[in-house]
Amino acid sequence: RFYSIIPAGGVGSRLWPLSRADAPKFLLDLTGSGQSLLSDTWDRVYSLAGPERVMVVTGRSHRSAVCEQLPDLGDHNLVLESQPKDSSAAIGLAAAILEHREPDVIVGSFAADHVIRGQLLFHRAVAEAAALADTGRIVTIGIAPTEPSVGFGYIHAGEPIESLGGRDSYEVRSFVEKPDLETATSYVESGEYLWNAGMFISRADVLLDQMAKSDPELVANLREMAAVWDTPERDATVDRLWDKLPKVAIDYTVAEPAAERGAMACVAAHFEWDDVGDFASVSKLLSRGRPNDLAVLGQGARILSDASNGIVVAQSGRLISLIGLQDIVVVDTPDVLLVTTKENAQKVKSVVDLVKRSG
Ligand code: GDD
Ligand code: MG
Repeated sequence: RFYSIIPAGGVGSRLWPLSRADAPKFLLDLTGSGQSLLSDTWDRVYSLAGPERVMVVTGRSHRSAVCEQLPDLGDHNLVLESQPKDSSAAIGLAAAILEHREPDVIVGSFAADHVIRGQLLFHRAVAEAAALADTGRIVTIGIAPTEPSVGFGYIHAGEPIESLGGRDSYEVRSFVEKPDLETATSYVESGEYLWNAGMFISRADVLLDQMAKSDPELVANLREMAAVWDTPERDATVDRLWDKLPKVAIDYTVAEPAAERGAMACVAAHFEWDDVGDFASVSKLLSRGRPNDLAVLGQGARILSDASNGIVVAQSGRLISLIGLQDIVVVDTPDVLLVTTKENAQKVKSVVDLVKRSG
């Protein structure tokens, strides 16, 4: 009964100029493995229920790249969006299509932009979440926070749920998406909160019914498209309804309000999880075990350097030489060169906004 959904959209602007509109974060290799984060996600989830039970939702413009990276993805499992409408529409539409095809399906939605280590522990957490989802709850996976990051959702874990035999299941008292720094700090200090790993496991109908309580029109439109998805009427229906969909993350339409209604649970994860949101975290990931080395990303990179503790992303083929520098971030692409420090890596997004505005 299990089906995986991989929503793959958004750019990941803090990884510019490596990430671009046509090379979004999920299509990038950020680990030096030669595989993109999307391929890694596929490898992680296809064995949960078989490769024919994984649905990918992405933008029309990414079709060829996604098909090239995922040769085992079937045509009827690829959902293409004409316009990005954030994760409520992406995940909600996939859930509605699957619900229409198979009314009692349990769906697990897995974000395409993370690095996870510990395949067995990941599978164990999802199995525990799926058992919990069968009781009619929406289950998130929680990560023990290491810092008061404002880029994540925070789960206030409640009483343990032991009735199903799972060891890591908890009630959810509340869910707060991307709190401000002061709030995030108090959450982390309290020791009662987990980061939301960006995974939601539930029955498809439960997910949509909860979303409908927050936005009935959105879900009515998603279900209307889903009902004709496998028929010749699909394109006309999508053309008519797509522009009406609100652009909003599922954390606001489902996680926050469903937690308020007592409909959420969570499973605390034991696997290693990294959001690799900026170049400082890419650097950290690449230099595991050798924290003082310069991390290098790029095949056949030519680098001359005595620099330490930083990262060089080499895409242009140019020889890169660095002398007497520390904690530096150098991203050299054919048309853009970015130089900053690890400490300022979070600010890359504001440069992107500036570039966009100045054309
Ligand atoms: N198809 C499609 N279309 N996918 C999308 C779209 C869209 O318009 N927008 C976002 N996604 C996908 C992303 O590719 C990713 O796989 C997932 O939905 C989550 O979206 P992000 O934009 O990456 O969200 P976030 O990182 O800001 O926050 C979410 O993830 C955090 C963990 O990394 C939230 O769920 C947080 O609560 C969570 O902590
Ligand atoms: Mg993300």
